[in-house]
Amino acid sequence: MNGKNIVLGITGGIAAYKAPALVRELTAAGADVQVVTSRGAGHFVGKAALQAVSGRPVRDDLWDEAAEAAMGHIELARWADIVLVAPATANFMANAAAGSTGDLLTTIVLATEAPVVLAPAMNQQMWQHPATQRNLETLISDGVTVLGPASGEQACGENGPGRMLQPEEIAQALANLTSADRALANRHVVITAGPTVEAIDPVRFLSNHSSGKQGYALAQACIEAGARVTLISGPVTVTAPSGANLVSVTSAQSMLEAAQRAITDADVFIGVAAVADYRVDTPASQKLKRSGGDSTLTLSLVENPDIIATLAKTTSAERTTLFVGFAAETNDVLKHAREKRIRKGLDMIVVNDVGRSDIGFGSDINVVTVIDDAGEVNLGPDDKLNLSREIARLIGTKLGSA
Ligand SMILES: Cc1cc2nc3c(=O)[nH]c(=O)nc-3n(C[C@H](O)[C@H](O)[C@H](O)COP(=O)(O)O)c2cc1C
Repeated sequence: MNGKNIVLGITGGIAAYKAPALVRELTAAGADVQVVTSRGAGHFVGKAALQAVSGRPVRDDLWDEAAEAAMGHIELARWADIVLVAPATANFMANAAAGSTGDLLTTIVLATEAPVVLAPAMNQQMWQHPATQRNLETLISDGVTVLGPASGEQACGENGPGRMLQPEEIAQALANLTSADRALANRHVVITAGPTVEAIDPVRFLSNHSSGKQGYALAQACIEAGARVTLISGPVTVTAPSGANLVSVTSAQSMLEAAQRAITDADVFIGVAAVADYRVDTPASQKLKRSGGDSTLTLSLVENPDIIATLAKTTSAERTTLFVGFAAETNDVLKHAREKRIRKGLDMIVVNDVGRSDIGFGSDINVVTVIDDAGEVNLGPDDKLNLSREIARLIGTKLGSA
């Protein structure tokens, strides 16, 4: 972010106490930061701290004649290479979605031609309220990029989505967004993620331990790299990145159908989902009962379609989509992955060793090898988002050289 001018808007949420740390992250990355606060922000963070870390007087008033004479609100809007609002309150999002310009920050957001990026922070109920979700959709369709929010324990004692991303995560995401070569700009990337769920009867199912974390991190990384992302996901507890078009599915069959619909204009298909290899041949229409005694129950299983292999084959005639598979192996990891890439007709395969207890399924950390016809690249150990950024870059390079 060397030499980038960032207007950092801070609004009145508890997470504003992290704003000085965020300013430090941005300035350490070489950015020039002008802080603009809302009226609410002043209750949570002091101007003196913000001025000290940014090296510039804080702007908070549209009607400050002296400040306006030095650099007016329109000049500030023009000066910005990027306008970042962190934390962004529900109130700010509502005003920005409505195009309201009641204070200096909302006026800059409307007046700027620079990309606008928000890091929302609020109580989980406020975040999930239909009004906030409507505003979020409006902002995204207006071209605003939304980072997070994360899910977890909140300052108000509740648990759920609404926590602001950590300052270092915001700074890293911003660095990727402002990077001159956004590896997947204007590309459509379709990603499958999470487990599939195969019914045994109306209340029981066969599934697996996939958390969806790797697929969701990849969706986030591809959005940061400039892609439009369709995320086709089995049931998971992680929150989809804002800006992804989330298509929720359950069984392998429904995932295949959603993928077939999404892939028609896709530049890249990435199969991260842990698709069940088998499903119950004929799920019971009513809940299965015990029959007592020592009786056994035998489930008859049939093979599910291999989603990525099916798609890679049916579109191979005039192949314009790049196919990237993920393989989870427990033994002879690289050998199996190399064979799988060829057998399924994939351009690239990313393999991880799920036999290790410290990485992979459910973990935030992963170690992978990326294999294509040009060779093999080892990545990690690193958190799944950083690994995904590397993978997105490799995919972008491969697309560029195709
Ligand atoms: C102690 C306290 C904490 C608050 N935390 C948040 C918050 O995290 N997110 C949010 O959207 N609103 C929060 N609010 C409500 C906002 O401060 C309020 O909506 C205010 O009008 C926001 O104004 P602004 O967006 O102009 O800063 C909080 C209010 C109080 C009193």
